[in-house]
Amino acid sequence: MKIVTIVGARPQFIKAFPVSQALRQSYQEVLVHTGQHYDENMSRVFFSELGIPEPDYNLNIGSAPHGRQTGAMMDLIEQVLLDEKPAWVLLYGDTNSTLAGALTAAKLNIPIAHVEAGLRSFNKKMPEEINRIVADHLSSLLLCPSQTAANNLQAEGIQDGVHVIGDVMLDSLQAALEKNKNKITILNKLNLTPHDYYLATIHRAENTDRPERLLSIIEAFSALDRRVIIPLHPRTRKIFSAIGYNIAAHSNVIVIEPVGYLEMACLEQNAHFILTDSGGIQKEAYWLKVPCITLRDETEWVETVQLGWNILVGADTRRIVQSVDEFSTPDEHPQLYGDGQSSKRIVDLIGKWSEA
Ligand code: UD1
Ligand code: UDP
Repeated sequence: MKIVTIVGARPQFIKAFPVSQALRQSYQEVLVHTGQHYDENMSRVFFSELGIPEPDYNLNIGSAPHGRQTGAMMDLIEQVLLDEKPAWVLLYGDTNSTLAGALTAAKLNIPIAHVEAGLRSFNKKMPEEINRIVADHLSSLLLCPSQTAANNLQAEGIQDGVHVIGDVMLDSLQAALEKNKNKITILNKLNLTPHDYYLATIHRAENTDRPERLLSIIEAFSALDRRVIIPLHPRTRKIFSAIGYNIAAHSNVIVIEPVGYLEMACLEQNAHFILTDSGGIQKEAYWLKVPCITLRDETEWVETVQLGWNILVGADTRRIVQSVDEFSTPDEHPQLYGDGQSSKRIVDLIGKWSEA
């Protein structure tokens, strides 16, 4: 059986890597990279360090406004699907690459398996919320990381094909920790002492497209009592450059290029706190038992907040600093989002649903 997997952005390479490994033991996978992310450190690095097979197709779409980018992807994905005639299209998450894959496959009546189905922020101003709603409503197999996600789908009238399988990012993280085996090369390279620095990432449109939010966040970082290491997303770097903001003026704020996943896992594992607006990193912080301060007004990963390991603070300088100062580590750390075996469940379910 042939499955076309469509990826395009950093978190999708990381999610797809354990699933592709498991999938290829039983089925033929055709890997399509849309080219949404293309810098060496946003794309290539993940393929080489994680041993992801070369994409069978690189569509080289690159950056563009949402409509143009999604449309250009659909144009090329359609031809791939017509040529390959897969039994399934496998999609991850909520990027424009996900949306383009979902719309194109659905128009060709090819069944879709959606990994990370059912997540909702209930904020349709987020481009990701639109993408995931559309992808979920067009999918035949909805692979949810949590019961909350499955409940969200049920509330929208989606019941068939919904399975709670845990989160493939835990499979990915466990593999990265195994590959790292206590290596701390990146800490030595950056001259960092374990647990004596903050790790931060910012790339979400709601923060980068509103300079007042971005600057309020950086002001908070500059008021923290340790160094703040920021592997800076190119989107955010471009905004700082466009508004002429010199982030290096804050002596404790250290901007570095985006790092590979193995180095990121090491930086996360050894951070005192993580401050982020990323989706994936909130979960990784939880699994690594590192307190997380989320620089957003809502989150899809509500369980991490309910358990007290994650605090939602938005972009307010005072709230960010105060939440770091007042954070108290919860006693409880129950298993969340599965057991690191989700990739295998995906392969089993695709097989089962193909026979149905
Ligand atoms: C995308 C996803 C977001 C995900 C993020 C992961 C959408 C709508 N958003 O956001 O859900 O959390 O990826 O990182 O799909 N750029 C480069 N080099 C690159 C890639 C991007 O310079 O390799 C710059 C370009 O200026 C581009 C901007 O970053 O315009 C934004 O890139 P884009 O892929 O449109 O969105 P992300 O913010 O990366
Ligand atoms: N990540 C990485 N290098 C970096 C920043 C992030 O490998 O410099 C990893 C991170 O550990 C997580 C994933 O990228 O696994 C999250 O991607 P991102 O924050 O870009 O997107 P989101 O999860 O918000 O969609």
